[in-house]
Amino acid sequence: MQVESGGAARVTVVDHPLVQHKLTMMRDGERSTKGFRELLNEIGMLLAYEVTRDLPLEPVTIQTPLQPMEGRRIAGKKLVLAPILRAGVGFLDGMLSLMPSARVAHIGLYRDPDTLQAVEYYFKSPSDLADRTVLVLDPMLATANSAVAAVERLKSRGAKDLRFVCLLAAPEGIARFQEAHPDVPVWTAAIDSHLNDHGYIVPGLGDAGDRMYGTR
Ligand code: PRP
Ligand code: URA
Repeated sequence: MQVESGGAARVTVVDHPLVQHKLTMMRDGERSTKGFRELLNEIGMLLAYEVTRDLPLEPVTIQTPLQPMEGRRIAGKKLVLAPILRAGVGFLDGMLSLMPSARVAHIGLYRDPDTLQAVEYYFKSPSDLADRTVLVLDPMLATANSAVAAVERLKSRGAKDLRFVCLLAAPEGIARFQEAHPDVPVWTAAIDSHLNDHGYIVPGLGDAGDRMYGTR
């Protein structure tokens, strides 16, 4: 489902029944750390399917056991998966299982609990980002401070073709992200109601990193 996004790149809500079912299980505060992590991994796979739907294909001639035929294979730029630590790593294995040759950029950011500003503590990416399609991964788009900073950092390293993939987005976060990066389309499994006074998505699912790793 496409959401109206003014002049900015589109926002796609992935409303596939499997995604919605698994997301509801993840929102449940009684879900175990193990269950939460498994579900995030599974939804990562399903989101990867949607976010790569328009990748260009090229013809290739192959030989089946019966005869030659012209098949199709993915053409164009190679992919980079760029999880924002920590919670973005939860998408990584699921996505890599579908795109095993993708490169990985790690972006270490945490949200200062008082200012809600993103603080960078680690960054490592392939050097040829200009020639690649970069999928930026983070389950939560709340104020969007983290997503905006991650995309800025990737652009400063040369990335030009980026897509942002999350699980939950707040309307405030979408607006801020589109204002900062109108060229970057967004895929999300849901757009929730609003942010609370602490910058948490409501109704949301809580702190994704803590629920994934069993920390607090
Ligand atoms: C969470 C989440 C996002 C960010 C979203 O990370 O995983 O990265 O907050 O909030 P924002 O849109 O307001 O920036 P957090 O800083 O809690 O770090 P963690 O993943 O290590 O727990
Ligand atoms: N980060 C999270 O993990 N959850 C929220 O609701 C907001 C930011």
